[in-house]
Amino acid sequence: MISILMVCLGNICRSPLAHGILESKLPPDSFCVDSAGTANYHIGSLPDQRSIAVANTHGIDISNQRGRQFEVSDFDTFDYIYVMDHSNFENVLKLARNIYDIAKVKLILEVDTTSIVKEVPDPYYDEISGFETVFELLDHATDFIANQLLR
Ligand code: 4NP
Repeated sequence: MISILMVCLGNICRSPLAHGILESKLPPDSFCVDSAGTANYHIGSLPDQRSIAVANTHGIDISNQRGRQFEVSDFDTFDYIYVMDHSNFENVLKLARNIYDIAKVKLILEVDTTSIVKEVPDPYYDEISGFETVFELLDHATDFIANQLLR
């Protein structure tokens, strides 16, 4: 089983989408996908209604997810840890214990070397259109990730 963790700040907007989108592209018997936030604001919460709605329009149900906070043991549990922006990157690296932990952490948009955008923008204070933009960025990046994992 290969395990992949998606990380953002609140674990209600971006990482639940990344989680649901990648999960939809991988066979569940060999891959485990999860998500977490670096903050503790939304532990136990449903994803943001706008993330749920945008995922739904693309045929993906993320309403079974609940918010949780990233914890040090996630470095042991997961093979790959993808963060949405530089701030998430720094927050996760602060908890790293060694070079093996550090090596697991990647900015998700850096998997697409052709992408000019390097961070998934935080859509929390944005309109629904911002969530659609996040979906498109993550859909593209997860195509690269799924292709690499399934090779
Ligand atoms: P996320 O977005 O990191 O993509 O889940 C946010 C969600 C909540 C907050 C900030 C960002 N907040 O400040 O509560």
